Amino acid sequence: MYLTKEEEQILNGEAGETLRQAIEILVALGDIYGADRLIPIKSAQIAGVSYKTMGDAGLEWISDLQGKVKVPSILNPAGMDLEAWERLRISPDFAEKQKSIIQAYKKLGIRCECTCTPYALEDFDVGYGDHLAWSESSAVSYANSVIGARTNREGGPSALSAALLGKTANYGFHLDENRVPEVSIDVECSLQKSDYGALGYVAGKLVGSKVPIFRLKSIPEADELKALGAAMAASGAVALYHVNGVTPEACKLDFAETAEKITIERNQIDEVYESRRKAGEEPELITIGCPHCSAAELKMAAELLEGKTVSKEFWIFTSRELAKRYPEYIRIIEKSGAKVVCDTCMVVSPATNSYSCVMVNSGKAFAYVPGMCGAKAVYGDMETCVEEAVGRTQKKAGGFH
Ligand code: F3S
Repeated sequence: MYLTKEEEQILNGEAGETLRQAIEILVALGDIYGADRLIPIKSAQIAGVSYKTMGDAGLEWISDLQGKVKVPSILNPAGMDLEAWERLRISPDFAEKQKSIIQAYKKLGIRCECTCTPYALEDFDVGYGDHLAWSESSAVSYANSVIGARTNREGGPSALSAALLGKTANYGFHLDENRVPEVSIDVECSLQKSDYGALGYVAGKLVGSKVPIFRLKSIPEADELKALGAAMAASGAVALYHVNGVTPEACKLDFAETAEKITIERNQIDEVYESRRKAGEEPELITIGCPHCSAAELKMAAELLEGKTVSKEFWIFTSRELAKRYPEYIRIIEKSGAKVVCDTCMVVSPATNSYSCVMVNSGKAFAYVPGMCGAKAVYGDMETCVEEAVGRTQKKAGGFH
């Protein structure tokens, strides 16, 4: 791999130990994956923030790093709401460790808004063709597929290394030839809302890490693409997908027919919803917001909850910036007894571990909750999640304003 004179000096430790370690990680990855050089990045998104997944070893490593990041950099969800951690009964010990992790990242100049939807923030600019080093799998999928930016699915340490250097190794999804569809997926039925998360869950299992191109009978909106990509990244390892006539590269580029073709039918999608019946257990906790809720999703939750009272724990995850931007939605949601929780999510927070059955409206959470939280997961659309939380007989009392 070619290195400039300045990069050679960094690798020799002439710019300090932190940058030496950072470039060593990037050069090692570049050598493994055949990168020709390092390229500048526009931003970094760093996973490995929750104390639940990092533990003391991760905290110690980050605390030892020195210097400042060279590009706008932001964190993935942490293990708790940083301003109201007591609400989900996080232990004081966990909270202390989590705060130390956030402080260590802050010291490096990283923005401590903890979200997996940085593209939804007003001042975190990302556009078509931008090279990035993002690490949360749903954010990677959205950036590559829906925005047309270019990022590999970085690990936490490599995204942090890229942030500190302002560069990443030029391989994988940074290169045109790796962005070409490898398998086409025809979906034989029209889809709405949470069907896209269920479709992603099914498709990810079928395609693994290949780049699929979908031919759909309906036109998905941004939140539906977000759900589709998040689920495929979790049940499989899809970091880039295209949708014919919808996503930017599928619209701009003339992709050849793929040799491999798959068809997905309605009954395969319906099977994901069957999880509710198959669980043989009532959900004790209902969660939405994986990936973090958009403004439209908060609005929908507020409309569905207005005038109702929940009878089960109901957590709605979003970024702190969106929660601040839409106080009216938050007020209506919280009046019902549901909790709007920022900076964290149902998967990376230890709070979910004390429930045995969790209802989700996300294909990604459906894939991850059993392994990461030790709970059964059942899948339903947002309306069903609200019905489950309020009790199925309670009717809406008022209109939404
Ligand atoms: Fe985001 Fe957590 Fe889901 S990081 S994509 S809400 S698992």
